[in-house]
Parts: sequence; structure tokens; C-alpha cells
Amino acid sequence: MENLAPRPGDLEPIETASRDELSALQLQRLQWSLNHSYENVPLFKKRFDEKGVHPSDLKTLADLSKFPFTTKSDLRDNYPFGLFAVPRDKIVRVHASSGTTGKPTVVGYTANDIDMWAGLVARSIRASGGRPGDIIHVAYGYGLFTGGLGAHYGAEKLGCTVVPVSGGMTERQVTLIQDFKPRIIMVTPSYLLSILDEFRRQGIDPRETSLATGIFGAEPWTNAMRSEIEDAFDMHAVDIYGLSEVLGPGVANECVETKDGLHIWEDHFYPEIIDPVTGDVLPDGEIGELVFTTLTKEGLPMVRYRTRDLTRLLPGTARSMRRMEKITGRSDDMIILRGVNVFPTQIEEQILKCVGLSPHFQIELTRSDRLDVMTVHVEALPNAAADDARQASAKELSYHIKSVVGVSARIDVTEPGKVERSAGKAKRVVDNRPKE
Ligand code: DLL
Repeated sequence: MENLAPRPGDLEPIETASRDELSALQLQRLQWSLNHSYENVPLFKKRFDEKGVHPSDLKTLADLSKFPFTTKSDLRDNYPFGLFAVPRDKIVRVHASSGTTGKPTVVGYTANDIDMWAGLVARSIRASGGRPGDIIHVAYGYGLFTGGLGAHYGAEKLGCTVVPVSGGMTERQVTLIQDFKPRIIMVTPSYLLSILDEFRRQGIDPRETSLATGIFGAEPWTNAMRSEIEDAFDMHAVDIYGLSEVLGPGVANECVETKDGLHIWEDHFYPEIIDPVTGDVLPDGEIGELVFTTLTKEGLPMVRYRTRDLTRLLPGTARSMRRMEKITGRSDDMIILRGVNVFPTQIEEQILKCVGLSPHFQIELTRSDRLDVMTVHVEALPNAAADDARQASAKELSYHIKSVVGVSARIDVTEPGKVERSAGKAKRVVDNRPKE
């Protein structure tokens, strides 16, 4: 694979600033952001007052722990525009999450917010090995989802040529990659796997494409999946993280030269890790729930937003800004099976150890005799799809899951193409247990 490390002078000064400089900037911006939230969003004023805190109480970064949390239900309860901190006519764009139940959560951006966002996605693309002049194939969904337009504006800001394909029409994705010869692809890792299958179906070697790096996010994926993708395409696979409530893609990104977790763009977001049960702030290095406070956002500032994502904070390496470890999963996706916590990412790792299995999988939960049962539906690779080969793969996977994850799972190895596909985020868990 090509060496894509940034050249000296490519980085923004803040990316190489000292921790002291960064902390000073964070404190100043945090004071502004808390004030802005308190003065302009009735919910924040009410919450701060109830807790007996005022923005002026923030004298150090650690003082942030005195302030109240914000959750997704706060956005739902104030649907659609109730948490905006500026008059509605200053909002130049809204996005919304699909929301499987009830109303979507709506987020809004001022012109400055859009500019800041584009700047951070540009920074993320550069960290992933992108350069001005590159052709970028954007296969994240365009529309209310932040992935497509977020990637698009960032790519333009960096000075790239954007191909705004969006998700879906997989055959055409392959044609456009073959014909336009992008150096970069931005897409969910699970949809890239569908594109990979399509390359193989058309008899094209994916290692021969023009792609030098891929920027994958919007859903959890493992280092085992990274190796799978890097081998299949002979390109770098880099992780991008974000969430609509805080921004969209570009809150944190890995650096292609280290691939050791995602540097949080700490000049715009202040991260904390908390114990999800007690809400106490945990020291760096400990795993817990990731919480963000925005430092510069005007339209929809967020104070201590609980992401439900589980990870830990690590010191900076390629950049001085701290890293978050690759996300293990969301607390919402955690399966508790006979007392053992299981994340879909753990199952993914075990599947990728089995030579006869493809990475397309879905976990189904059912109940039998009042006990929860986990069934892993996973596709056989085309060359291992005969009955006996599938049985052998099922046995192998069951063994790995039992010995590494510590639970017994039913394994259903299907023929290729039988597991539900998505052109965006994969649905990894289907809960068919009776509703209580
Ligand atoms: O998924 C924003 C995004 C678009 C990020 C494209 C990266 C690329 P939401 O739809 O609001 O926003 O979903 C946010 O997705 O809380 C995580 O649970 C999950 N997520 C996002 N990126 C990653 C990642 C976009 N790199 C939710 N690894 C977040 C693991 C991720 N999970």
C-alpha cells in the first residue's frame, strides 16, 4: 500500500499545538459555549438552574462535570426546533436521524457551523491520506442522514473532485469506480462489503482499482474487518466517527500513518468518558460512555451529550489531540445473554477468523423456554457453500464464539446472498423476543 502520511506543512497549526495551548483554547471556547447555551436555549437554562450551576462556575475544564447531561430524548421532547440557540432563519440546513421508533431527532446548522463542519471533514480526509486534487467517491447516503452531505462539503473544502454517488445501485458503484478512478472512497464498511461482492461478481479484481484509501464509519467495525478490507482492495482503511447531534461525520478520525484509534478534533469538541450507571467522570484509559460538549457550534450547541457509544480516551500519537479507541459498540446494541455482555463487534471478529465465512451477518434474538437464544445468521463464501462445508464453518464459528466471547450461540450458515443487505448502516441485531 502507498505511504499516505501527510507531508510537513500539510497540517493545520492546531493539529500540532501543545496540550497546554489546546487546553487554554478549550477552556475559553467552553466558557463561550456554556454561556451561549444558557442564554439562548430555555432547556439548558432550566437544567443549569435546577442543578444550581451557572456558566461562570466553569473555571477549569474539570468543572464541566458539575453541569447537567443532555440525551437523545431531550431532542425528541423538543422536536423539531426547540433546542436551536439561534433564530430559525439563521439555520441554513437541517438534518435528521431516521429514528426507528417515534419522531426523528432534528439537528440544525448555521452558515458558520456548516463551514466549521466542512473544515473538520476536510481535516479528516487529509488525516486519512487524501489530498487536494483527489477524486472522492462518496457512497454515504445523501439526504437527511449527515453522512453524504457531510462528506461532500468536506471533500470540496479540501479541494477534491467529489463524485456524489450516495448509497445503493451497487452495480453502478462498481462502474463509476472503474471509470472515474477515484483515489478515495467514503462509505459505511458494511456497504463496502456489498460493493466488494459486486466487483467479484463482475470478475474484476478489487486490488486493481485506483482506490488508495477508504474512510469508513457510521457504524462499528473491527480491526479484523480493517485487515479484510485492506487485503481485498489493497488500500488503507481508516475510521471516521461522528453523530448528528454533535455534528455529523468528522468529530474524530484516525490518522493513516498510525491507525491506532481516532483523534478527536478537540479544538471543537470536549470529550468525557463517564460511568454509564453513575454518571461519574472516569479517568482517561477507562472504558465507559462517551460524552461530548460542543465548543464552537452556534445553531445547536450540546452540553455533555450522552452518545451511548462505549470507548476510552487515550493520549495523542500522530496528533497531540487525544484519541478514542475504536468503538466497541453502543450500549443500546449490547446483548445480555445469560448474564454475559455481547457486542456485535465481538461476533464479527470471530466470523472473520473462519475461512469459509463471508463478513455478512445478522444476529437474531429469540426466546425459548424463558431463556434468550442468540442465533448468528452468516453467509458462506461462494467456494464454501456446499452443505458439508457450511456445517464445518458453523461448528468452527460456534467454537470460537464459545471460547472467546463465552456464550453459546446457534449458528445458521446460509448460502451467499441470503443475509439482509443495506446500502447504509447494517442492522446487526434483530430482536424477535416476545415483548414483555
Ligand atoms: O452516523 C455520522 C457519520 C456519518 C459518521 C458517516 C461517520 C461517517 P448518526 O446517524 O447520528 O451519525 O449516528 C451516530 O453512529 O453514535 C455511533 O453509534 C455510530 N457511529 C458513527 N461513526 C462510527 C464509527 C452518523 N466510526 C452513531 N464507529 C454514533 C462506530 C460509529 N460507530
